Amino acid sequence: MRHFDPTLLRPLVLRHSVLRRPRHTALLILGLVALGCTPAKSPPNEAPAEKAAWLNRSLSPRERAERLVAELTREEKLTLLTGYFGIQKPSNEYQFPEARPQSAGLVRGVPRVGFPPQWQTDAGSGVATQGEAPAELERTVLPSGLATAATWNPALAEQAGAMIGSEARASGFNVLLAGGVNLMRDPGNGRTFEYGGEDPLLAGSMVGALVRGIQSNHIVSTLKHFAFNDQETGRTSVDVVVDEAAARLSDLLAFQIALEEGKPGAVMCSYNLVNGEYACQNEWLLNQVLKQDWGFAGYVMTDWGAQHDTVLNAQHGLDQETGVQKHGGYQFLDKLAAAIDKGAVPPERLDDMARRVAGSLIGTGAVDHPVQPGPIDFPAHARVTQADAEQGIVLLKNEGAVLPLAPAQRIVVIGGHADVGVLTGGGSAQVYAPGGNVVPGLQPRHWPGPPVYAKSSPLEALRAELPHAKISWNDGTDPAQAARAAAEADLALVFVTQWAAEAMDVPLTLPDAQDHLVDAVAHAQRRTVVVLETGGPVLMPWVDAVAGVVEAWYPGSQGGVAIARVLSGAVNPSGRLPVSFPRAAAQLPRPAIVGLGTPKGERFTVRYDEGAAVGYRWYEQQKQDPLFAFGQGLSYTSFSRESLSARSEGQDVWVRFRVRNTGTRAGQEVAQIYVSPVAGGWEAPRRLGAFAKVELAPGAARELEVRVDPRLLAVWDGTRHAFRIAAGDYQLTLARSARESDQTTTITLPEGLIPAGAGRH
Ligand code: BGC
Repeated sequence: MRHFDPTLLRPLVLRHSVLRRPRHTALLILGLVALGCTPAKSPPNEAPAEKAAWLNRSLSPRERAERLVAELTREEKLTLLTGYFGIQKPSNEYQFPEARPQSAGLVRGVPRVGFPPQWQTDAGSGVATQGEAPAELERTVLPSGLATAATWNPALAEQAGAMIGSEARASGFNVLLAGGVNLMRDPGNGRTFEYGGEDPLLAGSMVGALVRGIQSNHIVSTLKHFAFNDQETGRTSVDVVVDEAAARLSDLLAFQIALEEGKPGAVMCSYNLVNGEYACQNEWLLNQVLKQDWGFAGYVMTDWGAQHDTVLNAQHGLDQETGVQKHGGYQFLDKLAAAIDKGAVPPERLDDMARRVAGSLIGTGAVDHPVQPGPIDFPAHARVTQADAEQGIVLLKNEGAVLPLAPAQRIVVIGGHADVGVLTGGGSAQVYAPGGNVVPGLQPRHWPGPPVYAKSSPLEALRAELPHAKISWNDGTDPAQAARAAAEADLALVFVTQWAAEAMDVPLTLPDAQDHLVDAVAHAQRRTVVVLETGGPVLMPWVDAVAGVVEAWYPGSQGGVAIARVLSGAVNPSGRLPVSFPRAAAQLPRPAIVGLGTPKGERFTVRYDEGAAVGYRWYEQQKQDPLFAFGQGLSYTSFSRESLSARSEGQDVWVRFRVRNTGTRAGQEVAQIYVSPVAGGWEAPRRLGAFAKVELAPGAARELEVRVDPRLLAVWDGTRHAFRIAAGDYQLTLARSARESDQTTTITLPEGLIPAGAGRH
């Protein structure tokens, strides 16, 4: 399988000084608004033979993009840089016939030269339908991004990406707006479910693998939202203040690793400001970090409507605007042309933008393999999403081996609409599973709602898994009645849910008095197991009163089956937490989301004073014990981790160890290596340095060797503009989670410098 590597394209990073060069070009009136207003039927994408030099497949993508751009008129170049909202509703003033119904976006093609339209759809869990859209596409829903991260299995994430990418292609999309990799700094972020957790290595590896899978379908995937879009409250007006050294070791490192792993054709810049400047016109983020340091040669697109100042956008690294839906709302199509005429933006920059867009479409194969709506193999895709869910579900508590469920007992299943389906995450990432929304009518009915349940009933699946058990149902709306049902059963399974979505943040407390429901049931039945369907961490005031806790996240369109198979023991749980669960909000760097209650549009600041001490690093630095730690997760078997040793090879550190299944069931273990300088001096005592998931039969053992990325042994040295490893002793710890260690070894490293863009291959 060929993966597109945008680093093969030569990046053109125009520095400020060049861009500010005054030019006195005659003003050219383009009349492009009229072009945009008139829905015209596109001729087929066929280029006349004499114009088709750029279609020559024996040339490199870079050469082809250069030849194409050389053939384009200025209007045509601008066409490639202007994206329209794809939804059919009256407020959208641009409804082109070639737009896919109810989709995120369309960038029109250039039929004269055979360059295709860019059909864009959300997002990371599958092919989405825009919020509130009447006609829903029913597509396979992957578990949430956080659930996939909880598998700690990049190969599985890649398969998952390949599957949703194929559905995007079969639905007529050649750009999938996936790849959310913002770190979880505030667990209340309503989009936590879309992302890869709190650790740069885990999030970057998992999301990068997903992107790689998506692009294996000859379509472009984004990586988003660049950067520091870590809360939804005031997302378009919040100014995130973060120190560069901390940024390079946390959120930016997650993006950097994902970029190296996934080689996305596009990066989506975010709505928020970073250190005083909007992300989509942020010279430091776009030109310096992304394009110059990391060598990104693909294109930067705005989040929908995140463009502000055309000249600054163009000068500071933005390549494509998206989400235009109002007449005259263009930045690029008309204002950029004017800015070029006035000499505020050099025409070479326009060529660079067009070359980047074309280069990514050519490089991924989206041009040579035009997308065409076609059939989808839903049964095969159901197996992919189910495998993802089964490996992402995390067993957090299992007192007295209450799980797996005994095959013949009286079980009452309570609450969470478990009789019909499983919850999905909302907003632009909303995917409707086959069967539609099985719990219609929930609030909020409008954007970012409605909450959608996928048709995959845990209750039905449990009955199928455990034919000898007597399984009854109680909807949980009356806690006293649920408690009585629990008392009469041998075991109670309580399903609790928290819906989360884009454009909102969520409290850490379960909604709708579900804590009260769990309390009531647990009071009546000690053998109570709680199954959570949440976007991210929630508080569990009842945790000591229940025997079992299972975090199922938003488990996707086979979620009910996956949950049942984990509960029954058909699947041995192997998910591990990609985020820490606090005991109380007071443990967090920001106990409440900053900016709540600030009038819409009013600018406010969030200071990341915790720096790179995100998640478990913060808890350890503060000597706080979370409720459940990063990396934590139980199995129905037991493992030992032994024979740890380490060696260095150049700047790489290789760690060797053995994992043994010491129990009686086959299972998968996630071995985690944490690294720490003996002399201290980091943002926190330890960082995750490497991990590996391994499947073992009972009694079997495997020898593993994993590489520690040298950036994870370094600090950011601003003076040298590089990562720097301090000479000295480093401890390497083989562990089950961020707070449970098994063995430690020490290695001595010399001083080392790692260039800012070191991971480029
Ligand atoms: C979201 C993006 C999404 C875009 C298009 C925005 O509101 O922030 O993640 O890709 O809409 O739907």
